[in-house]
Amino acid sequence: MADPIIRTEGLRKRFGDVEALKGVDLLVRPGSVFGLLGPNGAGKTTTVRILATLLAPDGGRAEVAGLDVVRDADALRFRIGLAGQYAAVDENLTGLENLELVGRLYHLGRREARRRGAEVLERFGLAEAADRPAKTYSGGMRRRLDLAASLVGRPEVLFLDEPTTGLDPRSRIDVWAFVRELQADGTTILLTTQYLDEADQLADRIAVIDLGTVIAEGTSDELKARVGGAVLELHVQDRADTAAAAEALAGLGRGDPTIDPETGSIRIPVAEDGATALTDSIRRLDERSIALADVALHRPTLDDVFLALTGRAAEDGTEPEPPTRRRRRRRESAGAAP
Ligand SMILES: Nc1ncnc2c1ncn2[C@@H]1O[C@H](COP(=O)(O)OP(=O)(O)O)[C@@H](O)[C@H]1O
Ligand SMILES: [Mg+2]
Repeated sequence: MADPIIRTEGLRKRFGDVEALKGVDLLVRPGSVFGLLGPNGAGKTTTVRILATLLAPDGGRAEVAGLDVVRDADALRFRIGLAGQYAAVDENLTGLENLELVGRLYHLGRREARRRGAEVLERFGLAEAADRPAKTYSGGMRRRLDLAASLVGRPEVLFLDEPTTGLDPRSRIDVWAFVRELQADGTTILLTTQYLDEADQLADRIAVIDLGTVIAEGTSDELKARVGGAVLELHVQDRADTAAAAEALAGLGRGDPTIDPETGSIRIPVAEDGATALTDSIRRLDERSIALADVALHRPTLDDVFLALTGRAAEDGTEPEPPTRRRRRRRESAGAAP
């Protein structure tokens, strides 16, 4: 690719016994939105903190905007912005005061910091609340203030660490709109997320990270194509029949049926034209007098991609455990040969 604006090579980081990053390689094109997608504990925040000069790597190297994150850290800080899940907002200051403070950190003069602060508050729909202490803000408003703060310095590269985790759906859509606007203005954005739909919606390219390693990289379509084929999804009328149904469907597709215990959904990867699998599945269940609620054939989702890559679902929202123990938590593998 043309000169990447973010480049990491063999990035490693250890915290005591935990190998948080085991050699992470990333290339990000200028002006793109790059999604770093992975479950809790995958190493997303560690990667972002290294790129944002807040944490030194133990090995490997990283460059942002042509500057080395360790050697050129002081210069780099003025070219980047960081916003995240844990808003770095001073509760006792007003919205505007918070942004002025950030502006001063970027060496803007007092008047310029104030002007710039007011401008970004306006942009984030916080102008009305500018003079209220941040502690009176709702969760969504705080997150917007945090985002606003990350933009005071007009960064070329913006790091957004799980920018929508914990937000209500409405605020989430707002954040997505801001990301698109910023990209339209030419800002490069690296965003981390555990949400497949968010990566799908926003990111030009996605790196899937798990246990400190990038396990796949590409556009959303490329990643889906890696799974190949289609997915057959069924629901039985009586949830008690789910396991028996999955067993009856074993061997039908290109992989074992999986069950989502939350929804009772049975999913089976099938060939591109899944028509035969579709009719077979209906016949097999009919033979066992298991009543179907619905059945559908669709393209793989990123969830299917993650499942195919790691053997488990992405959004399990739990702290990491050894792979063998968490493997079967969310989607029980069903119907394997006895
Ligand atoms: N300061 C720290 N001290 C000890 N362990 C840490 C620290 N920061 C992160 N870790 C561990 O490193 C791994 C990666 O964490 P993190 O980068 O925060 O993942 P993510 O942001 O993808 O959830 C996890 O196992 C986490 O518990
Ligand atoms: Mg994190």
